Amino acid sequence: MAVRVQGYVAALLFFGASQVTGIACSAMGRSKPWAFRGSIRAQSAAEVGTIMELHSKLPWVGTTIFSQMSQLAQQVGALNLSQGFPDFPADPRLLTALNQQVLAGHNQYAPMIGVAQLREQIATLTAHCYQRVVDPEHEITVTSGATEALFVAIQALVRPGDEVIVFDPAYDSYEPAVALAGGRTVHIQLDAPDFSVDWAEVAKAVTARTRLIIVNSPHNPTGMVFSAADFAALEALVVAHQLYCISDEVYEHMVFSAAPRTSAHRFAALAARSFIVSSFGKTFHVTGWKLGYCVAPMALSVEFRKIHQYVTFSSFTPAQYAIAQLLQHHGELVDELAGFYQAKRDLFRQLLAQSRLQLLPCAGTYFQLADYSAISELDDIEFCRWLTIEHGVAAIPLSVFSHAKPSTKIVRFCFAKQQSTLQQAAERLCLL
Ligand SMILES: Cc1ncc(COP(=O)(O)O)c(C=O)c1O
Repeated sequence: MAVRVQGYVAALLFFGASQVTGIACSAMGRSKPWAFRGSIRAQSAAEVGTIMELHSKLPWVGTTIFSQMSQLAQQVGALNLSQGFPDFPADPRLLTALNQQVLAGHNQYAPMIGVAQLREQIATLTAHCYQRVVDPEHEITVTSGATEALFVAIQALVRPGDEVIVFDPAYDSYEPAVALAGGRTVHIQLDAPDFSVDWAEVAKAVTARTRLIIVNSPHNPTGMVFSAADFAALEALVVAHQLYCISDEVYEHMVFSAAPRTSAHRFAALAARSFIVSSFGKTFHVTGWKLGYCVAPMALSVEFRKIHQYVTFSSFTPAQYAIAQLLQHHGELVDELAGFYQAKRDLFRQLLAQSRLQLLPCAGTYFQLADYSAISELDDIEFCRWLTIEHGVAAIPLSVFSHAKPSTKIVRFCFAKQQSTLQQAAERLCLL
């Protein structure tokens, strides 16, 4: 019940009660295939009262923009280029492996730290990609998605009153996790078009209370990728001030133009103070499996595991065996991922070349930012609503990724989609 009620609050916050009705009225009865046919129930005063009594620990948080835009896209039948998930199937060998593992009886709790075969494959992968030797027994923990790993690492590190430096636009799960640990996020804004980090500015933001810096490369939502110099600058700061680092590398294998994969793994002094997080959901097109992992030195992993065991204890067993099987026999898939997504990026950019959208650089991930200032005066949230309802393409506004909610005319499209979806979306976008 509580969860459902929270959803209504978010719907109200995002759309506004009258606007919700407005969406329904303006789009209903249209001949467009994406015409709205549902209804969003308004929230009663009694429900609001119930929520107030809870004294929410996260009063400013509603349902994420990703859920909201996906829901709106579904309601109006729009092409969903908002939330970051593929609309094509995973490798059939992985799907077969999952079935085999279920039928082989791997259906009970996995070991708390993860199935041994999978941890060994992760160690092999880390050595292959970054030439770093990690101990699968003491330094690798399998988690229920990168989201769990990020949450657990933050709880392990952050104490009441601690400051945590994050770079905006930022993935949305960092700040609530820091707040729940009693810490405070310090936001450093990165700006279009290249969203590069000014490390001198970061150094100035470090105080006696700073405990942790959270970085994300390749970066959601901007597609920016850290250079080796970025990681070296981060390492120098972390070491000089005895800080810790969480390096969110869920898009690690999606780096384009044959550029080397940069990673905290490659910087020994940084890695010694880091939790490095990745996601098999992203790498193998199975976001719904929610399987990720965290690599951290033994002393950090000990603390991480103390919390992980009381959050989920262990993660979906058959998927762990299935991914271990795939990595063992088809490890080359990981190296092919960058080419696979680069082709999609290039196709999408080429299809949009005739549009009035101005495309920003995209060096990695499966996200493309686009500036729509030649098309509309609307703010980015309103523009996304309008684009979804009136033109049948859902995107994510860039401003929601920043604490300061800067005024931008930039939106994020996810190009982890079949060619036909990208073509249809581009046809509609070129009409704007
Ligand atoms: C930057 C970033 N970190 C973490 C995650 C969460 O990954 P997972 O689905 O494995 O929990 C995402 C998912 O969109 C992401 O974009």
